[in-house]
Amino acid sequence: MNKQRAMDEIAKEIESCKVCKENKSGMAVPGEGNPDADIVFIGEAPGKTEAATGRPFIGRSGQLLRSLIREIGFDDQEDVYITSPVKYLPDRGTPTSDDIAHGREHLMKQFEIIQPKFVVLLGRVAAEGVLQRKVFVTKDRGHIIEEKDPSASSGQAGIKYFLTYHPAAALRFPNKFKPFLKEDFLRVKTLLGA
Ligand code: URA
Repeated sequence: MNKQRAMDEIAKEIESCKVCKENKSGMAVPGEGNPDADIVFIGEAPGKTEAATGRPFIGRSGQLLRSLIREIGFDDQEDVYITSPVKYLPDRGTPTSDDIAHGREHLMKQFEIIQPKFVVLLGRVAAEGVLQRKVFVTKDRGHIIEEKDPSASSGQAGIKYFLTYHPAAALRFPNKFKPFLKEDFLRVKTLLGA
């Protein structure tokens, strides 16, 4: 099966997943982009705009994310894959740890297909969801995180994880976080030789 067909199968699983939908609303937001990409961006959970359209990161945070992706030389559809550990809009806005633990099962299946080389974790929920351990964004951002035990995270050895702020943080507190977010994206560009 080719990668796009395999990703479509997972999207169907997500669309019919009752556990995913508990205490959430709107359309399924499985992710989008190139399933053959080396680089994957992971957010938190869909917002209202995403839940209304089924597309990830197309609201205000998404526009910032996609412009940063383009600024470092990547096309936001052709060169990367964009998704989140949680695939539906949580009723309370912020996903619970159960939401993240369950959504992760779908996300890991997506990782198995994509086989990314470089995963950019946008904020604490993305990082803890994928790596399954505590992270401190302020301390751990801006450099590659070595996974001592890959089986504890994505189950795939050789993935490089890079942590930065979620774009929503930069929209909420632009003076505080936007310069760091931009700096981190430039670092991604350097690390990838883009
Ligand atoms: N924030 C996220 O983390 N994901 C989206 O898809 C949109 C906003």
